Amino acid sequence: MTGTAEQANPLLEGLSFRRTPDPCALVIFGASGDLTHKKLMPALYALAFRRLLPTRFAVIGVARTEQDDDGWREDMKHAVQQYARDEFRQDVWDELAANMHYLSADFADEAGADQLEQLVEKCDKEMNLGGNRVYYLAVPPPAFPEIVEALGKRKSPTGWTRLIVEKPFGHDLDSARSLNRMLWEHFAENEIFRIDHYLGKETVQNMLALRFANGVFEPIWNRQFIDHVQITVAESIGIEGRAGYYEQAGAIRDIFQNHLLQLLAITAMEPPIDFHAESVHNEKVKVLKALHTPGPKSVVRGQYGRGFVEGEEVPAYREEEGVASDSMTETFVAAKLFVDNWRWADTPFYVRMGKRLARRETTIAIQFKRAPHPPFEETTSEGLRPNVLLVHVQPDEGVSLAIGAKVPGQGMTIRTVHMDFLYGGAFRTGMPEAYERLILDTMLGDTSLFTRSDEVEEQWLLVDAIVAAWQRDRPAFPNYPAGTWGPPSSEELLRRDGRSWRRN
Ligand SMILES: NC(=O)c1ccc[n+]([C@@H]2O[C@H](COP(=O)([O-])OP(=O)(O)OC[C@H]3O[C@@H](n4cnc5c(N)ncnc54)[C@H](OP(=O)(O)O)[C@@H]3O)[C@@H](O)[C@H]2O)c1
Repeated sequence: MTGTAEQANPLLEGLSFRRTPDPCALVIFGASGDLTHKKLMPALYALAFRRLLPTRFAVIGVARTEQDDDGWREDMKHAVQQYARDEFRQDVWDELAANMHYLSADFADEAGADQLEQLVEKCDKEMNLGGNRVYYLAVPPPAFPEIVEALGKRKSPTGWTRLIVEKPFGHDLDSARSLNRMLWEHFAENEIFRIDHYLGKETVQNMLALRFANGVFEPIWNRQFIDHVQITVAESIGIEGRAGYYEQAGAIRDIFQNHLLQLLAITAMEPPIDFHAESVHNEKVKVLKALHTPGPKSVVRGQYGRGFVEGEEVPAYREEEGVASDSMTETFVAAKLFVDNWRWADTPFYVRMGKRLARRETTIAIQFKRAPHPPFEETTSEGLRPNVLLVHVQPDEGVSLAIGAKVPGQGMTIRTVHMDFLYGGAFRTGMPEAYERLILDTMLGDTSLFTRSDEVEEQWLLVDAIVAAWQRDRPAFPNYPAGTWGPPSSEELLRRDGRSWRRN
């Protein structure tokens, strides 16, 4: 496609409109880690590539590993070359790297924190950053308290300070509450940015656009017209060497507590009065509070055994390195949830998530009720299914509406067809990575796409209740072969209600 064609596409208008953030320093704790390599640095490069970063901007990487500025820059350059979504351009990189520094420090002792303060102040003076700081906690949660305390004691008297906190946010309700209390000792709630990177995904935000920017959906977005909702967060990968974390977390803490409940909240929330962060959080938290704790028959858990994924034989969960041979950690959860309010009463939200499933897919399917009286003979409309609005969160981001249409030719045969909108096709632009949007929003001080303390706590309340019920029985694990859609009891969960999981 030519540049002229791109400019002529009216849908491209407005794509580049963003406020430029104030000058600031971004300090990344965990600068030698996986997240920094694979997500954070490629996101910064993508922002630099589009000239979305502040005009004066410094990046300071902190970790305990010994290396100097040049060594870290070189390492980060390789990370960008390997993981960035854009081509590597030396001029873009040079401009970004010119103000990148590395500090080898351990926050267990005060000297490390003092050294960082001196380095940030030096950058601030040289570049006139106005005392503005973003701190990114890309370290394991046990390292949070000492870093947060040290930063709290050394807050800049000028400018703003913002703190990005990675997941997992606690292990249960008690630990999440203590973490919130610890953060509030040093930072105000509007300075705390709790990451759930799903909220940075375009399609998740598009759910809000779809619902609230179009007149046609909202009148039918309720129990009268919607039969049920299905949310799937399926991964085909296993635990990728992260047994230490996953054995403690399982699918319920890894995905259900955060991403899945956030997707549900966005699907079910009432229209906010505006798109300011508080208004959006207020509506989401109402949904989370309205979630009914499911009984034991409404929750299914599973663990994968050996199987084949995309043609390759893979080991059972219990055979993965670092996993106990009798591990009872779940790698799959399915549940039937109800939002107890006027809009959704008696409308099931079926959710499922897991590892080593048949394919990678995150979707939200709104299944509408059947047409009340189709005037066609049954034989002519055998291939007709009720309307489904399917939001593809990943991969192949887009939205598709299943509708009944007449098969061309003589007679009246009706089949289901799909009206598709694919991001790539409509906007002809690469999809931004969630972390680009979230880092930029932090610099702009917008917490809309982050989770507020009460949302996180409500999410844990539900998870704690489910996990407590699990203590009473011991399912026979493994109970699904890798490469399938989970245990048979997951199918049974819907079959009992005369429904089934969608297959495409
Ligand atoms: N990787 C992902 O895709 C991903 C996705 C979602 C969330 N997260 C979250 O992001 C955080 C980092 O994950 P990761 O995958 O990057 O982990 P990782 O590869 O193990 O890296 C951890 C980083 O933290 C530093 N670190 C470890 N212990 C520390 C301590 N006591 N004090 C200061 N620094 C310490 C490490 O550097 P040194 O050993 O050199 O100090 C390293 O730079 C975790 O909270 C994780 O749950 C990661």
